[in-house]
Amino acid sequence: MSLKVELLEQSFEQVKPQADEFISSFYDNLFADYPEAQPLFANTHMTKQKKMLLSALVMVVENLREPDVLSESLKGLGARHIKYGTLPEHYPLVGNSLIKTFGQYLEANWTEEIQQAWVEAYGAITTLMLEGAEYTPEEVAL
Ligand code: HEM
Repeated sequence: MSLKVELLEQSFEQVKPQADEFISSFYDNLFADYPEAQPLFANTHMTKQKKMLLSALVMVVENLREPDVLSESLKGLGARHIKYGTLPEHYPLVGNSLIKTFGQYLEANWTEEIQQAWVEAYGAITTLMLEGAEYTPEEVAL
């Protein structure tokens, strides 16, 4: 993985002071743009869920320089997503909503280069999570 670590770190630092609002806006975007994702969260305690998603994103950004740690924890996370009903085709929905939310919060600091860095990072995250969930490349075909 040759991710643009510095761009990812710097852009994440910029949203951190508004982290709680950022995560809430992410779910607002996800459910507004992709209502089909909502039923998966029907029995989810959203306040807790928001904290867990934020911790997962912090974990990812803090371990960009530790690919082994990142890989192990994302595979584990992906394996747990099977029981949440998450299918490979759901990953791009979450990715698009995450990118959209970054754009809304970074505003003038949201550049083509930073967008590209996050698109690549999310692609790498998805690959690892789906590997952990033991999907074959044919089943994935995103
Ligand atoms: C970057 C990708 C993703 C990250 C970092 C992420 C992170 C998390 C985390 C940290 C949890 C808490 C439970 C645990 O740790 O096992 C969770 C739960 C969950 N995620 Fe994700 N997730 C991602 C992608 C997705 C996608 C694509 C979907 C499907 C739309 C999804 C749906 C859910 C659901 C339904 C739960 C269950 C909550 C419950 O226990 O009721 N996630 N996710």
